[in-house]
Amino acid sequence: MARIILLSIFLTTLSLLATAASLSRDRQVFNIPSAIQAGPSIAQFKSSSHGLDAPKLSSVNGSAFDWWYFDAISTDPDNLASVVITLFTTVHDALPFVETTDNVLTADIIVSFPNGTRVKADILADSATVIAEGNTSSGEWHGTGFKWSGGPLGYTITINSPLVGVKGSIHFLPVAPPHLPCGPVQAGQTLEVGPHIGWANVMPDAKVSVDLVVNGTRVAFNGIGYHDKNWSDQPFPTHVASWYWGHAHVGPYSLVWFDFLDRTGTEYVSAYLAKNGKIITATCAADSISVRPNDGSAFPPVLSTPNPTGYHISLKRGRMEADVHLVRDLVDPTPAYGRFIGEVTATIDGKKFQGMAVCEQFKLTN
Ligand SMILES: *[C@@H]1O[C@H](CO)[C@@H](O)[C@H](O)[C@H]1NC(C)=O
Ligand SMILES: *[C@@H]1O[C@H](CO)[C@@H](O)[C@H](O)[C@H]1NC(C)=O
Ligand SMILES: *[C@@H]1O[C@H](CO)[C@@H](O)[C@H](O)[C@H]1NC(C)=O
Ligand SMILES: *[C@@H]1O[C@H](CO)[C@@H](O)[C@H](O)[C@H]1NC(C)=O
Ligand SMILES: *[C@@H]1O[C@H](CO)[C@@H](O)[C@H](O)[C@H]1NC(C)=O
Repeated sequence: MARIILLSIFLTTLSLLATAASLSRDRQVFNIPSAIQAGPSIAQFKSSSHGLDAPKLSSVNGSAFDWWYFDAISTDPDNLASVVITLFTTVHDALPFVETTDNVLTADIIVSFPNGTRVKADILADSATVIAEGNTSSGEWHGTGFKWSGGPLGYTITINSPLVGVKGSIHFLPVAPPHLPCGPVQAGQTLEVGPHIGWANVMPDAKVSVDLVVNGTRVAFNGIGYHDKNWSDQPFPTHVASWYWGHAHVGPYSLVWFDFLDRTGTEYVSAYLAKNGKIITATCAADSISVRPNDGSAFPPVLSTPNPTGYHISLKRGRMEADVHLVRDLVDPTPAYGRFIGEVTATIDGKKFQGMAVCEQFKLTN
């Protein structure tokens, strides 16, 4: 018995060492300057065996974008706090949602206090470093006080930024495996969720604990969190007419949806459902999922049509029907862009579950 245990400890140690060795072989360090680079930005649109959360552009020119996005919302109904942090490598010409400057490195934070009141701040970096290892990454936007550190056990964002008045940390403990637009993580797969829109969902669902002090007010909560990255070698509006995206935690399920229309009216989707940390479906098959307004709002949506108050999500595999009711804004909504907290009611395999979601929508055409 003792010998078997010893042997198995020995084998476990060996496989841990092997993992550590392969991780260190995978380690790549990227230094990103703050200046717009001349010439072509070559975007990576095929997955490789490592570097899921690595920078996906050879360089950041004036029409390309690549960013790391993190969100965390409280699941306590008495605490309306939330945090969204985005570390950008892009400029306004490529992504009209960032401010006009010729520095490509913005760190952006939006916080809601426990009473739901929101504040937003951003700060420019002198340079940035991203270290990719296995499926995860660490990064620092030098001079801003924003950095993150990722590994197989999760991600931690640390902020110490007197200029934006934020100090503290956010811990993400993943509860569902990463995925690509059309399936689980593996080499040689497409990274395009639609034409020229790269997407890697490194942390589809996480338990999160937040402890920040924002200009003297403490914002501390537990809840659900998420991390992904998007990139393109073309300006964002070139290919996107509208999209609905979101993620939710409902009962034992982790759900991520994406339903978008390009400029030609072609619809692209991506569906992800995991149960207790195991993927049930991860696909971009055309009929796998549909996301539509559930209040009679216009579809396809255009700038002049109102933002819906909720969505109906129909997922074929996993037999899930869900209604999301939007309860709070996470940004000041404009006709072009809104991000919201939603309450979700889902029926899966005939059983009913409640949960919460972060939802987003873009409308860019008339
Ligand atoms: C950036 O790179 C892309 C891809 O090579 C190219 O299509 C685009 O014209 C470049 N933009 C600029 C401003 O150089
Ligand atoms: C909400 O809380 C913040 C931070 O404590 C405070 O600054 C703000 O005035 C509060 N808003 C309302 C509407 O009470
Ligand atoms: C990356 O994620 C996939 C899917 O979860 C997993 O099979 C693979 O082992 C991971 N790779 C590393 C280096 O952790
Ligand atoms: C904190 O206060 C400073 C000074 O008023 C302001 O510039 C900054 O935007 C505030 N930070 C946040 C996150 O609201
Ligand atoms: C794209 O970026 C936004 C951040 O604005 C993020 O909320 C969303 O998850 C990303 N989704 C896709 C499919 O690219």
